[in-house]
Amino acid sequence: MTLLAPVHAILARTGLDAIALVPGANFLRIFGKDFHQMERPLVIVVPRTGSPVAIVPNLEMGSFAPLGFPGEVFDWRDEEGFMGAFMKAGAALPQLGKGARIGVEGQRMRVFDFQALQKALPHAAFEDAHAEISTVRLHKTPAEIEALREAIRRSEVALEATLQQVKVGMTEKQVEAILLGELFRAGCDGLSFDPIVAAGDNAAKPHASARADYVIKAGDALLFDFGGRYRHFNADITRTFFVGHVSDHDRAFYETVLAANAKGREISRPGMTASEVDDAVCKVLENSQFAAFKRHKTGHGLGLDVHEAPQIMRGNMAKLEPGMIFTIEPGLYRDGEAGVRIEDDVVVTETGIESLTTFPRDLRVIG
Ligand code: GLY
Ligand code: MN
Ligand code: MN
Repeated sequence: MTLLAPVHAILARTGLDAIALVPGANFLRIFGKDFHQMERPLVIVVPRTGSPVAIVPNLEMGSFAPLGFPGEVFDWRDEEGFMGAFMKAGAALPQLGKGARIGVEGQRMRVFDFQALQKALPHAAFEDAHAEISTVRLHKTPAEIEALREAIRRSEVALEATLQQVKVGMTEKQVEAILLGELFRAGCDGLSFDPIVAAGDNAAKPHASARADYVIKAGDALLFDFGGRYRHFNADITRTFFVGHVSDHDRAFYETVLAANAKGREISRPGMTASEVDDAVCKVLENSQFAAFKRHKTGHGLGLDVHEAPQIMRGNMAKLEPGMIFTIEPGLYRDGEAGVRIEDDVVVTETGIESLTTFPRDLRVIG
């Protein structure tokens, strides 16, 4: 298979005349390497007919050349600026004239990349084809599933090592520092994202940041949402614990989220829509005494990006298919008091799902 075969398959399916790519998860999946998104644009245009072109900052040429890009490369140096390279690339694509439709990654391409491309191809029409282009990442290969499994295994080792060290009286930041050290000690290549380590009222914010001035106290919920990266694949795990002791009310709160998480893992199977999964999980929360504390959908696809397709959300009629990976992460959030989320990463198999996350989910009191 040639390097650009997945792009040509999308061009054939969508009827687009060209696809423009910028660094990011799709680029990484197609070319096997990613580049920094910085002030220097790097853009590739793959037309349906004729040769592709690449506009590449000259300082990246040493990294770009080994990709084996099968087209013309227009590199540019800092002192000359990028517009000349864009104009030469545009002149090399006469087939993208009036009426040509070019699909771009709407969630990745920046305004200045876009404006330069528009200037170089002034008669073409541009459209957001992010979802179509991202289908290159929708079905994971066995090797990709194993990379994520390993990212998760190492992340779970780091979580258990962290829990052994948590004590009442530590700040959230201190616990975060322990977790970061343990993730690298466990052999993760990097972080999937800045971890969330949130205690007490902070756990009620779904995307909280660890505080240097909050001391963890007995009775607090302690929520970890974190992940290590391995071979570019990102673990995304949430577990919530209680420190010292747990009240009956918090126990019931926790058990409700656990029941919703279990429902998602139990029912998901190929052929089901993402909407049906979210609906079943949400109903467990909505039919409970804690319905008022629900804040978000069930989950999202996971892979080279931490949030990607398929979104596990009511209204998304996309069907689950073997090889898709997504999260099941119901949560409940009592503002100013406590929050609980339990997040698993699952892969769709021929008959159901397998949870790649295996860290125990039963309520656990630590410290
Ligand atoms: N972690 C919850 C969400 O981003 O939907
Ligand atoms: Mn998460
Ligand atoms: Mn998630």
